[in-house]
Amino acid sequence: MEQLKGLILSGGKGTRLRPITHTSAKQLVPVANKPVLFYGIEAMAAAGVSEIGIIIAPETGEEIREVTGDGERFGVKLSYIVQDEPRGLAHAVLTAETFLGTSPFVMYLGDNLLQGGISDLVSAFREHEPDALILLTPVLDPENYGVAELDGAPGGAPPGSVGRVVRLVEKPPQPTTDLALVGVYMFTSQIHDAARAIEPSGRGELEITDAIQHLVDGGMRVEPHIVRGWWKDTGRLDDMLEANRLILDNLVERVDGELRDSRVDGRVVIEAGALLERAIVRGPAIIGKGAQLTDCYIGPYTAVGEGCRIEGSEVEHSILLEGSSVCDLQGRMESSLLGRNVTIRRGDGQPRAYRFMVGDNSDISIL
Ligand code: DAU
Repeated sequence: MEQLKGLILSGGKGTRLRPITHTSAKQLVPVANKPVLFYGIEAMAAAGVSEIGIIIAPETGEEIREVTGDGERFGVKLSYIVQDEPRGLAHAVLTAETFLGTSPFVMYLGDNLLQGGISDLVSAFREHEPDALILLTPVLDPENYGVAELDGAPGGAPPGSVGRVVRLVEKPPQPTTDLALVGVYMFTSQIHDAARAIEPSGRGELEITDAIQHLVDGGMRVEPHIVRGWWKDTGRLDDMLEANRLILDNLVERVDGELRDSRVDGRVVIEAGALLERAIVRGPAIIGKGAQLTDCYIGPYTAVGEGCRIEGSEVEHSILLEGSSVCDLQGRMESSLLGRNVTIRRGDGQPRAYRFMVGDNSDISIL
């Protein structure tokens, strides 16, 4: 088989993670202090895919390009492809046609995280040479995903694959299966004609799900695999927190920062330049470069970004982006996502009242 290229979809609007995504791309929101997008690039690099195109939107593309670079640090070559409008995943494929040429390719949705990488799947694709390979996993809310119905009989299917795909539907209101399409796909160049043949869906997008159905209808071989480890689409806050939890669970302890009268328990990473004074950090947790933690408690499943300041407060099961500070809260902050340079503090003025300066679509809960 010809050399496999990579395509990562990092355009789109990110409406479900607003307000964070008003100012930044959702694929750059960090999980365990690393942008979600980087996990996809690393997975491709580990599978030997070294020429990768990244689809970007005009609004957030520049930032993605700046943060991600030319790929040298990942050991790959990155090219950026601007998609004028988010007109669907199959539209993104067509936008990348010049880059992809006739090569087979791996497509990875830039807001997806897949445990265990993609090396085994790439090997299966190379070995069995189907026209497309899709990944499926059972979910509790199939109506929020593309789903695939299988004919169930695994007889004759290649090892690792699970029978035959009968029908694929994008976000069906009444799903007849709980098998969701995971955001990692492998295609031959057949997909370009399929993407050209389909019509926009009810939500006005050219759906990759419909393009794959077109392959099935045309008698092409679409090989389904079930994901073995966990998989997360990080499009919503709860998913983001869960992805953070899953990644932090595999953290390897390392303390490069400075501890004064402080204690760290369990799987904790303290990056260089971070300073802890009279602080307790209970892992799994990661504290970014130059963060300052004073008289505080950081509980499990917390990722504190670069240069954050936490003082006189308790923070647990949360993600703080760089430059944010949390000072003198009386209660414990938990299950929260703070954007960049956010300040949360107890005011000292009278009357005793809450005082906020909050962007559009923020979400604040107070007891
Ligand atoms: O996460 C898996 C699901 O991803 C699949 O089960 C669905 O079948 C598939 O359609 C997709 O659904 P979503 O509604 O979650 O896709 P979303 O709009 O979030 O886009 C996924 C990624 O692709 C995201 O990083 C943004 C990017 N994107 C999206 C569109 C619509 C683009 O780069 N260009 C686009 O036109």
